[in-house]
Amino acid sequence: MSNPHPETGSSALPKRAATILLALGLAGLSLACGMLFNAPVAFRRPPLFPGQEKPTGIPNGQRIYFTGVDSQGQRIRYKGGPPYGGMMMGAYLACVDCHAPDGRGGLHTMHMQVMEAPDIRYAALRDEAGEHANEGHEDEHRDYTLEDFRLAVVEGKHPDGEPLSTDMPRWQISDQDLADLLEFLKSLP
Ligand code: HEC
Repeated sequence: MSNPHPETGSSALPKRAATILLALGLAGLSLACGMLFNAPVAFRRPPLFPGQEKPTGIPNGQRIYFTGVDSQGQRIRYKGGPPYGGMMMGAYLACVDCHAPDGRGGLHTMHMQVMEAPDIRYAALRDEAGEHANEGHEDEHRDYTLEDFRLAVVEGKHPDGEPLSTDMPRWQISDQDLADLLEFLKSLP
């Protein structure tokens, strides 16, 4: 059994070459597919807490801030905001993406536009509420209430009713989750 194809011996080499080429081609194709379908996953925020949908000891407000998912495993959905990769990568934004891990906000380039997210640590919110208390009537000592927070996060409005920019998404969030989030902001140094 030296040559399985005695009559086509001359084409044995090209055949082997073709097999190798095919194998290389398949390898290349699977690599390309891998890049196509897996790469976005690599760009996605890694789950901060492994097993996100399971109960953890992490306070609910902190969890929502960093992952956009509450302790019940419920994703906090939103409308608006910059169309940041959402469709392409199946990614969702969480507060942390714009307001930063320390709550101080900052400049971001999203969808090729520069956006500035404000400091939302509690002290900053209280200052802002003072400035927006009432047209022309600043009130430094005005507190920032849960209702003010709801107005901003759910309705996209300043305490005086003036609309926030549409860079800030409008969130569908339960009262309990909202209260927990505000507690978390109060805990930020
Ligand atoms: C896509 C970016 C983005 C995400 C995500 C985001 N925000 Fe914002 N947020 C903004 C921007 C920009 C503003 C400023 C809007 C303005 O001043 O008109 C803002 C404003 C706010 C304000 C009002 C601050 C003030 O000074 O009155 C609060 C409160 C707030 N965000 C809370 C949150 C919370 C809580 C989350 C998560 C549930 C969140 N934001 C997610 C971009 C974002």
